[in-house]
Amino acid sequence: MKKSDVISALFYNSIPSQPAKDQGYAFAPTNIALCKYWGKRDTELNLPVTSSLSIALPGKGAATTLRCHDGANDVVVLNGDTIANDSPFVLRLQKFLHLFRPKHEWSLHVDIKMNIPVAAGLASSACGFAALTEALNDLFGWGLAKQELSILARLGSGSASRSLWNGFVEWHAGERTDGMDSFAEPLPYIWEALCVGIVPISHQQKSLSSRDAMLRTVNTSMLYKQWPQQVARDMATIKQGLENKDFSMLAAAAETNALAMHATMLSSWPPVSYFLPETVAAMHKVWALRASGVEVYFTQDAGPNLKLLYLKSDEQKIHEAFPEMGTVHVFTQI
Ligand code: PMV
Repeated sequence: MKKSDVISALFYNSIPSQPAKDQGYAFAPTNIALCKYWGKRDTELNLPVTSSLSIALPGKGAATTLRCHDGANDVVVLNGDTIANDSPFVLRLQKFLHLFRPKHEWSLHVDIKMNIPVAAGLASSACGFAALTEALNDLFGWGLAKQELSILARLGSGSASRSLWNGFVEWHAGERTDGMDSFAEPLPYIWEALCVGIVPISHQQKSLSSRDAMLRTVNTSMLYKQWPQQVARDMATIKQGLENKDFSMLAAAAETNALAMHATMLSSWPPVSYFLPETVAAMHKVWALRASGVEVYFTQDAGPNLKLLYLKSDEQKIHEAFPEMGTVHVFTQI
């Protein structure tokens, strides 16, 4: 099954080629997975082996404005700088746009404002493809439902399927080969005291993309066989933690899940490691704080930065230990 087959099915073989308005706009928040997506059952459609569950960081993400323009090529501006058309960033974005213009019927001026570092394990591709998909829907008046937009955003980057909502979001793995049952949905939980702290370790672009790292893990890690069981257990615990508002239950399962994902990566060949010495040092600091009675946990994605999970009542103590940390109040900031 190809991406173009999915597009044809969603648009009934007729993709609008005329803009419905002068400009399309969307903001999409980045998201941090508490139960991770790691490994694809279909690399073309970005269909995951397992379901995953995330929390959005409101106000942190991508704001994308689109206008049609007369030139033959798209113009892509990121945070005020025009990006070269042969850069990997623009090529990836255009590959996605080509899905909706099989004969290059239109060119776009794409203005992206991102207030998180690009490609440093802070899910810049997730919010980037989600905002682009929603802005296209706005510009061309597609009138698609969020569930359908989630399917389309997934074709750009798997985790983008979860970046269309604030709050807790679950991406259902689905079973179909066309992926029409593999989309995300918001979960009805609000947790005002919940905080996510971003501990900046390095904002350098990662050397190995999550796509390549996943593929290598699935193909070479002996531990990958047990990953679906790990996810099944952690997902159930995280949901129970949400249901019971049991922070320790939720956050401990999120930390275990992240460590299991990284252990699986480490056992690939050649090994995949997103740890820097400072990442491991920060983990030890979290464990020491916890041993002293402070309820703080971490999660880590395909980059060296750590994201801390804690409740507002502990914010001051955690800031004292991590003065460089940026705090996101995931519900009261929406
Ligand atoms: O969507 P991708 O290809 O950028 O992969 C995301 C992978 C992780 O961030 C490590 C996990 C996740 O569920 O977001």
